[in-house]
Amino acid sequence: MKFVITAGPTREPIDPIRFLSNRSSGKMGYAIAAAAIEANHEVVLISGPVNPPPPAGAKLVRVITSDEMHEAVQAAVRDCDVLVMCAAVSDYKPARVAEQKIKKRNEKFSLELIPARDILKSLPQSRNFFVVGFAAETNDVEEHARAKLATKNCDMMVANDLSDPNIGMESDENAVTIFSRGGESAKISRASKKTVARELVKIICANAKKVLTKKF
Ligand code: CTP
Repeated sequence: MKFVITAGPTREPIDPIRFLSNRSSGKMGYAIAAAAIEANHEVVLISGPVNPPPPAGAKLVRVITSDEMHEAVQAAVRDCDVLVMCAAVSDYKPARVAEQKIKKRNEKFSLELIPARDILKSLPQSRNFFVVGFAAETNDVEEHARAKLATKNCDMMVANDLSDPNIGMESDENAVTIFSRGGESAKISRASKKTVARELVKIICANAKKVLTKKF
């Protein structure tokens, strides 16, 4: 199968030297890319600015902003079988990017933000690839993840509970719950991101094959 996997954060510029971003390390997305390659799948890895070296065998597309990630995803999904949106895409971006460095003044300062494009929501409703979203939640994980599964029109939603600081963002370990369109759910208990990624790729493939019956 051909996988398109997004990983890492996006950066939204404020001025030539500043940006808005988040703590995503890209480790989970990179581990999924490595696990998919290990299982003999083709992988396009669309990555925000992160440090890990890309897994050998992945076609790496580097992006910085949410708009760049949006364009790269639109182009890559034209001939893919599975899209895994593991990236922590910005929800907002500055309404204007200052051309010159914003100078310090001794007064209150506020930044006007506008919504960034939602990459999952802008995918076509009718499509012939399987879509996996990630839900990063600090509370009411199941309720929020199931709501995102529906509103973002995904086939599967992988929920990360961020209330435990020892797993998930920036950590080398993770534990996830997977919610599917049909209402089923499955848990992958705490393990290295490498182990979680291998298990996830197996579950994604098994479910994608059921949905993409004409292809596989
Ligand atoms: N996502 C996206 N485009 C965005 C923001 C998020 O496609 N602009 C995707 C993420 O890659 C992830 C899913 O949407 O697969 C859920 O992301 P998450 O940050 O958990 O949720 P949000 O939609 O940002 O909602 P909230 O911040 O309110 O939880």
